[in-house]
Parts: sequence; structure tokens; C-alpha cells
Amino acid sequence: MGPQLRVLESPDAVTRTAAQWVHDRAWAAANARGRFTLALSGGNTPRALYRQMAAGPRLPWDRTVFCFGDERNVPPDNPESNFRMAREALIDQPFVNQSADYEQTLRKLFPSGASFPSFDLVLLGLGPDGHTASLFPRSPALSEQKRWVAGNWVEKFKTHRITLTFPVLNAAAEVLFLVVGEDKAWALRNVLRGKAPVEEIPARGIVPTSGRLTFLVDRAAAAGLGQTA
Ligand code: 6PG
Repeated sequence: MGPQLRVLESPDAVTRTAAQWVHDRAWAAANARGRFTLALSGGNTPRALYRQMAAGPRLPWDRTVFCFGDERNVPPDNPESNFRMAREALIDQPFVNQSADYEQTLRKLFPSGASFPSFDLVLLGLGPDGHTASLFPRSPALSEQKRWVAGNWVEKFKTHRITLTFPVLNAAAEVLFLVVGEDKAWALRNVLRGKAPVEEIPARGIVPTSGRLTFLVDRAAAAGLGQTA
């Protein structure tokens, strides 16, 4: 089954739909397997979602494990840090156990011995250039097929970034992209309708092995998709 596309009226509608999505997946996983493993996206788009998760209907916080899809190579209190963004919007809430981790801790969280961990749900954003997580066009991390976490220099931002790799992201039971704003229209069209290589449009490399892939987008981001949107 190819990616599902849901075009919603506004950024708020994307946030509300995503919050319900996370809520439903969290309780289903916690009730079925005793925990909910969630990989968080960075950037700005998911900030409203994280605030909604903290303020909205209760989640199984004591059985929820957070990891990060990627991180900027900056201190956790740096304004650029994804951890800081998520900590302020969600993790520092009194009821949330925090777990921001990298490969060595990930392997403790997913001790099954499987080649790659399978998150119940991975949240991803889409950059205007087609990057996702910190998998940027023509970056070394794109070719990582063994490690769970890759770090590499990102020329565009003149900084090192750390990211979950394609094999981990594609091992997820479910991947949910949140894409909002007209500045994403070009990238979204290239992801959903284009044929560019992953090297150029890395988000095209998100093809879950057996999991479900859904794009929650607003009308502005869907503008480039034509009538089929
Ligand atoms: C990051 C994110 C990145 C983000 C996109 C979209 O560290 O920046 O993980 O992949 O999701 O750049 O960012 P916005 O939501 O801010 O547009």
C-alpha cells in the first residue's frame, strides 16, 4: 500500500488530527505491548503537536518512551536543539518521563536483537529541500544501511547533525509526516509525485518495510499536488 495523503484545512487541523493519531496509537501500543515507543521529529512544525499532547487527553506517559528522529549537534539548551524544543513543549511537563537517546541507549530500549528497532510510530517533518529528520540531500547519512544513528556534517546549515537512519525509520510500524505551509509545496510534490533520486529528495527514501505511511498536510503544502489533492 503506497503513502496515504490527507489534506486538512489548516495547520491547526493538522495538529489536532496528529494529536488524536498519537493518542490512539499510544493507548493501542501500551495496552497491547505494555509500552509505546515514539520517535519525535524536530524543527518547528511539531511544536504545536507536542503542546497539544501535553495539554490534551491523557496519554500512557508512564509507558511511553521518547526518542528523537534527529538532533542538531548543539547543547540541549541551545535554541537550535530539537531536544530543547520538545522539552519545553512536552517533556518537561511533570507527568512525562523523558528519554532522549542515541544508538547505545536505543539498543537497550530495543533489546530484541533485531537488526533494526521498530518504533510504534515515527513522526517526521519535511524540509523545503526535501530532507526529513536530518537526512539531507547529498549527505553521507543517506547511505548508512547498518547503523541505527548517523551523524554527519550538513553543509547547508554548516553544522553537524545526528539522525535516525533510513533502515530504522523504515522499520517503523507507522510513519506520520506533518507538512504545513506553502514553503513545503515544492518538496511535497516531489515526494509524492516526483521521480527524483533519494540523494536529491531524501524524504522519498521513507518507504516503510511493512509499516503504514501517512502524510498529514494542510492546503498550502498540498498546493503543488494538483486536483488529485
Ligand atoms: C529538524 C527536523 C527536520 C524538520 C524539517 C521541517 O531537526 O529540523 O527534524 O527534519 O522536520 O526541517 O522543519 P519545520 O517543521 O520547522 O518546517
